[in-house]
Amino acid sequence: MSSEKNTTQPIKTIGVLTSGGDAPGMNAAIRAVVRTALAKGLNVWGIRRGYHGLLREELIPMTGRDVADTIQRGGTILQTARSQQMRTEEGQLKAAGVLKKYGIQGLVVIGGDGSFAGAQKLSQYGINVIGVPGTIDLDIACTEYTIGFDTAANTAMEAIDKIRDTSTSHERCSIVEVMGRDAGYLALWCGIANGAEHILLPEDHGYDEQAIIDDIIENRNRGKKHYIIINAEGVGDSINMAKRIEEATGVETRATILGHLQRGGSPTVKDRVYASIMGAKAVDLLVEGKTNRVVGYQHGEYIDFDINDALKMHKEIPDYQVEVAKML
Ligand code: F6P
Repeated sequence: MSSEKNTTQPIKTIGVLTSGGDAPGMNAAIRAVVRTALAKGLNVWGIRRGYHGLLREELIPMTGRDVADTIQRGGTILQTARSQQMRTEEGQLKAAGVLKKYGIQGLVVIGGDGSFAGAQKLSQYGINVIGVPGTIDLDIACTEYTIGFDTAANTAMEAIDKIRDTSTSHERCSIVEVMGRDAGYLALWCGIANGAEHILLPEDHGYDEQAIIDDIIENRNRGKKHYIIINAEGVGDSINMAKRIEEATGVETRATILGHLQRGGSPTVKDRVYASIMGAKAVDLLVEGKTNRVVGYQHGEYIDFDINDALKMHKEIPDYQVEVAKML
């Protein structure tokens, strides 16, 4: 499927949905999609609960007022869901049918790679689709920025600062588990921002627990009052790890799993502004007759890629950044 238009008809009606894990800044993107579309004379449908809601025809017409007072709110006003049915050909055909029934020629999908895979299929079934990267994990290869990562990293950083206070007072070791099942960006950024003694990444499961234990003992002998380990969700096992470390070092050790609090909260200025620009750009691409594209941000510019190419790209945690974190 190329990125050329599916239809020669100018786009008159579009839809917007959020899919997968929510991320702060999604509302800014929805607001930008709705207001840009209305400014260009298009009709806009909001689709509730992602593809799951689309398959159940949970569509609502959107006006400019529907997105008033939302840019500062976390979560997604359209709700979100993960849909198994949309992974099947039957589900994809049904979803395309619902969009056609409502006269929706173009769809903006705000979500991660899984959501873009669904969008790619809809493009094959004649709907013009544009993806906007929304995930706190930062794990979309074609872009240096994803909606929600900045807010989540700041939220986790502030929480870890607080944990460090009590950890220092009690002269404890603290293991803090941050989100990221498959990607360690949150862990790495918090590790650097919070000056953690150790960072455990899902990309590198082979961490050496004995080396950490030895380091804790050595640091304690040098009089260090705290020891912070940032552990990514993908490595997990923080509670048991804390028990093992306490037993081996004799240093009281506590585990804190930050969990879903990292996905909530009012978006940072960066998430509000980048999400707004990406939402507007998605509508512009639809108006230009483009389909099967995903919006990205690279080297200071907002750009777009063919979804097929974007889904084939890979992104690794940069070795240099891991080295810097270790050195500091
Ligand atoms: O949104 C991404 C993410 O937060 C991952 O970091 C995490 O592994 C996953 O979603 C958790 O998903 P759920 O909300 O379904 O538990």
